[in-house]
Amino acid sequence: MSATKKIAVVTGANRGLGFEASRQLAKNGIHVVLTSRDEDKGIAAAEKLQSEKLKVTYHPLDVTNPDSIELLGKFIKDQFGRLDILVNNAGVLIGSAEDSSVLNAKIDTIRKSMETNVYGPLLVSQTLIPIMRVHNYGRVVNVSSGMGQLTNMGGGYPGYRLSKTSINAVTRILADELKGTNILVNSACPGWVKTEMGGPDATRTPQQGADTIVWLAMLPDGSPSGGFYRDRKLLPW
Ligand SMILES: NC(=O)c1ccc[n+]([C@@H]2O[C@H](COP(=O)([O-])OP(=O)(O)OC[C@H]3O[C@@H](n4cnc5c(N)ncnc54)[C@H](OP(=O)(O)O)[C@@H]3O)[C@@H](O)[C@H]2O)c1
Repeated sequence: MSATKKIAVVTGANRGLGFEASRQLAKNGIHVVLTSRDEDKGIAAAEKLQSEKLKVTYHPLDVTNPDSIELLGKFIKDQFGRLDILVNNAGVLIGSAEDSSVLNAKIDTIRKSMETNVYGPLLVSQTLIPIMRVHNYGRVVNVSSGMGQLTNMGGGYPGYRLSKTSINAVTRILADELKGTNILVNSACPGWVKTEMGGPDATRTPQQGADTIVWLAMLPDGSPSGGFYRDRKLLPW
C-alpha cells in the first residue's frame, strides 16, 4: 500500500448508496474499507468491486453494536494506522402503517430508528475520528435526508424524520468541536434514490445519489464544514 493512499470507511455498503459511494471513492484512487452488518452480503459486494479492479477491503460492522464498532476501529489502526474518510451511510426506514403518524408511532420504532441512524454513526465517529486526528486530516459525511430538514418538516415517518434531524445536529456539533482542524464534517441529502429504501419509483439512480456524498468525502483543504448539501449545493437546515 502506498503511504499516501487515502483510506475510507463506508458503513452499510453492501448495497444501495453505500455500495455506489464505495465504488466512486475507489474509482478516485481511494482504498475503501467496505463494511456491512451481514458478512456474506458485504464480502460479495467487496468482491464485485474488486472484480472491477478497485482497491476495496471488507470488514464487518453493525453500527448498533459497540463491540463491532470497536473491532473496526482496531482493524483500521492495526492495518492502516490512518483514516481519511468516513461515510456514515447505514440507515433504516422502519415501521408499520401505524408508525407512519406521529400520533400513533410506537416509541420502540422511533428508538430503533435513532439507534441505527444517530447513535450508531455517533459512536462510529467517536471511534474513528481520533484516528483521523493523528495526521490532522479527515472528511466525515453523514448521509441524511431532506426528511430531516426543519424548514420543510412535514408529517409522517416520525422515527425517520427525527433521526435525520438529529444526525444533522451531530454534524453541526462535530464540526464545531473540530473547528480549526483539517477534519471537515458535513451532511448530505442524496435526493430520492432507486434503492431498496427509496423504491423503484424514485427519481434518481444510485450514481446520481452518491455524487454529493463522494464530493463531500473528497473536499479540498480549506472547504466548509458543518453544512448540509444536496446536488453539491448548500441546503437550509
Ligand atoms: N434512497 C433514498 O431515497 C434516500 C433518500 C434520502 C436519504 N437516504 C439515506 O441514504 C442512506 C443509504 O440508504 P439506501 O437508500 O442505500 O438504503 P438501503 O438500500 O436500504 O441500504 C441501507 C444500508 O444500511 C445498512 N444497515 C442498516 N442497518 C444497519 C446496521 N445496524 N449496521 C450496518 N449497516 C446497516 C443495510 O444493511 P442490510 O443490507 O444488512 O439491511 C444497507 O446496506 C441511508 O442513511 C438513508 O437514510 C436514502
